[in-house]
Amino acid sequence: MSEHKKIALVTGASAGLGAEFCRQLAPRCDVIIGVARRGERLAELAQELAGSVEFHVLEADLNSIEGVARTMETLRQKGPVDYLVNNAGFSTYGNFENLQIDTQRDMVGLHIDATITLCRAAVPYMRERGGGHIINVSSLGAFLPGKGLAVYGATKAFLNYFSQALHTELLGSGIEVQALCPGYIHTEFHLEIEASGFDKSRVPEEFWMQPQEVVRISLDALGSGKVLVVPGQGNQTLAASGLQQQLDLL
Ligand SMILES: NC(=O)c1ccc[n+]([C@@H]2O[C@H](COP(=O)([O-])OP(=O)(O)OC[C@H]3O[C@@H](n4cnc5c(N)ncnc54)[C@H](OP(=O)(O)O)[C@@H]3O)[C@@H](O)[C@H]2O)c1
Repeated sequence: MSEHKKIALVTGASAGLGAEFCRQLAPRCDVIIGVARRGERLAELAQELAGSVEFHVLEADLNSIEGVARTMETLRQKGPVDYLVNNAGFSTYGNFENLQIDTQRDMVGLHIDATITLCRAAVPYMRERGGGHIINVSSLGAFLPGKGLAVYGATKAFLNYFSQALHTELLGSGIEVQALCPGYIHTEFHLEIEASGFDKSRVPEEFWMQPQEVVRISLDALGSGKVLVVPGQGNQTLAASGLQQQLDLL
């Protein structure tokens, strides 16, 4: 039996959760392809991981057709990948009617279009190989429709539905799909929305998690058959109450 290299492709690898996915996937992989717009940040991560994994920098904007096309081509040339982590994301904060529609459409493009396109590109190779892992980074916000995050939360709800349905379609193929639904994590994610009035300091410290813990929970859940992974007991309670409130409306 021929041994193949274990390969991961992680989007949004230049910061936060994505960089941490690369760090924790390194012991499981021979090659990691990190995708993001900031090539210099990816190069720093490549240096940090040198010696533990072969790290390829792919500087690409996943909001552009060209960036997604280059990422798909990399999947084809360097793959098949064993791990596909669709993590790149951002948020805005504010009521929908006051937000720039271009930015909202960019969010839909990045969270939804890029994710389904990369899944569509990776799945046939994974199927041919007899298995693989897809992690789509969603959010606790998917369960809690609320003010200020209408499009953000809706894109994440899409990812939950999509991941659950895709997982079901792929049963028996050896390919598993996870939608990771974290609550607040200490990353660079809130820098931009703080400028729009999101007050990070009003969220009590017990609601925050570190990226290391969130990624560990995500990777530990692989193989469990669990599709929706909500890290943290408090977040699981909030997700359940969000679902209950939606049922109560019926
Ligand atoms: N932090 C939280 O509290 C939290 C909670 C729930 C869910 N999440 C989700 O977790 C994921 C990761 O977020 P994070 O917290 O790690 O935030 P982060 O520290 O701001 O990292 C976001 C990553 O996405 C990349 N990215 C953004 N736009 C991109 C584009 N157009 N093309 C390619 N890459 C792009 C960024 O890279 P470049 O800027 O270099 O392109 C960066 O690597 C997101 O999907 C987010 O929705 C975060």
